[in-house]
Amino acid sequence: MASQEELDWWNRFAGVMAEQWMLTPRLNSIIRADYENDYAEYLFRPGGSFLEIGCGVGWIGHKFAARGMRVDGIDFSDSQLDIARRLADEKGLGESVAYFARDLVNDRLEGRFQRYDAIIVNAVLHHLTPVEVDALIARMAALLSPGGRMYIYEPLAPRRESAARRVLMAPFAFTMRVLLFAIQRLGRAFGLFKSHFAEAMRQGYTGTSPDERAIPIENLRRSLIGNNLSIEEERPYHAYSLAVAMSIVRLKPDLVEWLTPLVRPVYGLDRWLFKAAGWQNFGDEKAVLCSIKATKGVAG
Ligand SMILES: C[S@@+](CC[C@H](N)C(=O)[O-])C[C@H]1O[C@@H](n2cnc3c(N)ncnc32)[C@H](O)[C@@H]1O
Repeated sequence: MASQEELDWWNRFAGVMAEQWMLTPRLNSIIRADYENDYAEYLFRPGGSFLEIGCGVGWIGHKFAARGMRVDGIDFSDSQLDIARRLADEKGLGESVAYFARDLVNDRLEGRFQRYDAIIVNAVLHHLTPVEVDALIARMAALLSPGGRMYIYEPLAPRRESAARRVLMAPFAFTMRVLLFAIQRLGRAFGLFKSHFAEAMRQGYTGTSPDERAIPIENLRRSLIGNNLSIEEERPYHAYSLAVAMSIVRLKPDLVEWLTPLVRPVYGLDRWLFKAAGWQNFGDEKAVLCSIKATKGVAG
């Protein structure tokens, strides 16, 4: 089950985490446009049912509801679910959305529907233990309609790493570490962070929850296939660009504006590295944020 430390962390920091995670609209459009088009196309079924697992403030499900799907969201963070409901009201989504406060590990995954046409899990599994991930995949698979689609986006730990690839990536990894360190140190030294981020950081917020860890890709594949899901595609999206964008968001608005253009070349660098080195060869020290598309067998 989620550790007490993990639960406390979400209760304390869910708001700043959600703000940092959602980025600004401009940053989001630079590094998430490809990714958002990908899941939107894969999961959309006119009039279908949609389940968002670990939905946070519900921003993904809202888009599907606005296009006519019936959306349920599940999360254990009441404060985020309140925001999800408020945002849905502001967008006039009415009864096309419903939210359920449940622990993905201990509670039943009960929403409004017996089965769902589409399920998305966006950056949630890496907060769970390997055993919990396996159990959750099995429960989600059981909730998927035959032929239904699942889209997973998580930091994955690929296994293979050759010395040549390590040499190719080392200069970029080093540069990125320096960049992130500089933002952190200069931000603190010169008071460059937004006040609520500065306060959260004083209370120990780092942007990483206590139980967070990348998921070994082989484990996830085994779990999906073992639950009658066929993997249609694995696609890498972010190696460095998301971390850079998320650290910029903490800064004061003028600085965010000023530094936003920097994120485009970092996203370009990610794309290039995936091609040049092969994302599956990044090695388990470097998590790669990937999507996995899987479909449930029609017999199931
Ligand atoms: C990084 S956030 C992602 C939120 C959302 N999927 C998104 O993309 O904006 C991870 C989410 O998982 C939720 N979460 C983590 N562990 C959970 C658990 N055991 N049960 C329910 N929700 C959990 C957190 O509350 C948080 O909303």
